[in-house]
Amino acid sequence: MSTQTPALVEPTAKDQLQQQIILILDFGSQYSELIARRIRETQVYSEVISYRTTAEQLRLLNPQGIILSGGPSSVYDLGAPQCDPAIWEMGIPVLGVCYGMQLMVQQLGGLVEKADRAEYGKAAIHIDDPTDLLTNVNEGSTMWMSHGDSCHQLPAGFELLAHTDNTPCAAIAHHERRLYGVQFHPEVVHSIDGAAMIRNFVYHICRCQPTWTTEAFVEQSIREIRAKVGDKRVLLALSGGVDSSTLAFLMHQAIGDQLTCMFIDQGFMRKLEPERLVTLFNEQFHINVEYVQARSRFIDAIKGMVDPEEKRKRIGREFIRVFEEESKKLGPFDYLAQGTLYPDVIESADTNVDPQTGERVAVKIKSHHNVGGLPKDLQFKLIEPLRKLFKDEVRKVGKVLNVPDEIIQRQPFPGPGLAIRIMGEVTAARLNTLRDADLIVRQEVNRHGLYNSVWQAFAVLLADVKSVGVMGDQRTYANPIVLRFVSSEDGMTADWAKVPYDVLEIISNRIVNEVEGINRVVYDITSKPPGTIEWE
Ligand code: XMP
Repeated sequence: MSTQTPALVEPTAKDQLQQQIILILDFGSQYSELIARRIRETQVYSEVISYRTTAEQLRLLNPQGIILSGGPSSVYDLGAPQCDPAIWEMGIPVLGVCYGMQLMVQQLGGLVEKADRAEYGKAAIHIDDPTDLLTNVNEGSTMWMSHGDSCHQLPAGFELLAHTDNTPCAAIAHHERRLYGVQFHPEVVHSIDGAAMIRNFVYHICRCQPTWTTEAFVEQSIREIRAKVGDKRVLLALSGGVDSSTLAFLMHQAIGDQLTCMFIDQGFMRKLEPERLVTLFNEQFHINVEYVQARSRFIDAIKGMVDPEEKRKRIGREFIRVFEEESKKLGPFDYLAQGTLYPDVIESADTNVDPQTGERVAVKIKSHHNVGGLPKDLQFKLIEPLRKLFKDEVRKVGKVLNVPDEIIQRQPFPGPGLAIRIMGEVTAARLNTLRDADLIVRQEVNRHGLYNSVWQAFAVLLADVKSVGVMGDQRTYANPIVLRFVSSEDGMTADWAKVPYDVLEIISNRIVNEVEGINRVVYDITSKPPGTIEWE
C-alpha cells in the first residue's frame, strides 16, 4: 500500500492531540457516519477517515481505538480495499465491523468464504464468551446482519465470542492483542444491545473517558475562535435556521461586535418570519443583524420562470450578487463564518481546499446549499466552528448557548424558500396566498402538538392548476393547496406522516374558508423515495 496516499478527510483531531479519539476507517459502508455518531453518544470524540490512512499516519493522530467499518466489497474482490496491515501491530484496540472483521480475519491468516446463505436483517446472537466486548449484551439479543461472506476459520490466537444460527463466527476476539470483530452492525437501531457493545469497546477496551461534552466543545471553540480571529472582523450570513443561528450565538460569545450578521430577505420566507428573526436577534439576543431587503430583486430574477432548476439557479445567482454588494458595503471583512457541519466535511473531502495554500476556501454558502461558488475576488478566509458536529450535536450546542427552542427545534426550510413551493411562476400575490395557507398549517400543527413529531409540515401551491368547487350557492374555480407532512430521521428518506384525520379536516376547512383563491386541499401520500420532500 502506498504511504503517499493522504487521508481522504484530513482529521480535524490534529489540532487537539490531547483529546481522546476513536477513528473509523471507512471502507464505504453507508453506516460509517452512524458509527461515529454512536461513539460520540458515549461522550467520546470520533471521526471517519479514509481506509487508506497508514499506521504511521494513525500513530500521529494518537487514537485510543480504531474501528474498521463495513463496506460493499468482498475481501476476495479484485482491488478490494485493504487497510495497512501494520495496524494490527500498533498495540491499539481495533474493532472490525462486517467487512472490517472479514479483512481482519483474512489479513491475519484466517479464512473468509462466501456464506452458504447471505444473511440480511435481524438475527438472534448466541453468546459463547460474555466477557469484555459482550458484557451486558443479552443472550438471544437481536443484532442487524448484512453480509454475503462469512468467517470460516479464525486466525491464530482468536476466540469465538458469539454465533447466530446462520453465522458460525458472529463475534470474535484476540483478547491479548485487543483485536475484535463483529459480523453484525452494532451501530444501527435494530441491534438492540449494540449501544452496550459500543460502550464496552469505548470504555473497557479502549479505556476512554467521557470527555466529549457539549460544554467542553463550546469552551474550546470559543478559545479557538478568539485565537484565530484576533482583532479581525467576521461576516456571517444568517438564515434563521438552526445552524446559522447557533453559529451566530457561538461567534458572538467569542468575539462580540467583531461579528457582523447579515440577513438577506429574499421575500420567500414564511409569514412574519423575517421580522421575527430580526427583532429576536437585535432586541432579545443583542446580536446585531444587518437586514437586507431584497424582495423585489429576487422576484424580478425569477419572473416568468416555471422550471424548478432554473428557479433555484437564478435565486442562487441573485443571492451571490446581493451578498457581494452588501458585504462590500459593510466590509471589509477578514473572515466568513460558515455553518458547515461534519457530514458536509466528509462528503466534500478535499474538494474545497485551495491547492496552493492548502487552506479551505469558501466555494459554497452552506446555508443555501444550492448556491454556487462565490466569485474569486470575494474569497474570505473561512471559519467553520461547527465543522466537527453532527446536526443533533449542533442542537445541543445551541441549547448550551441558550438559543431558544423555537430556533433549535425549527423544521428544515429550503434555501430558496417558498419559491420552490409554488408550482408555476412566482408572483407576489401567489406568495401571499401560499403564506396564508402555510400559516394556517403551522398554527394547527402547533395547536395539536404535532410540530416536533413530524419532520416537516408545509403547504404547496399548485398555481397553474384550477378545479371546480362550490361555496354557498356559488360555483368556484380556483387553485388547490397540497399539504405535505413527512416523518423522517435525516431527510434522506421519508414517509408521508399519518396525522389524525380531524387535524387535516380542520386545516382543510380553514384554508378553503380563509385563504382567497383556494377552493381545494389535498394531502400528499408519497414517500421518499420515489417522491422528494419538496415539490421542486
Ligand atoms: P428533498 O426535497 O430533496 O429535500 O427531499 C430533503 C431535505 O432538504 C431540504 N431542502 C433544502 N434545504 N436548501 C436547503 O437548505 C435547499 O435548496 C433545499 N432543498 C431541499 C428539504 O426541505 C428537506 O428537508
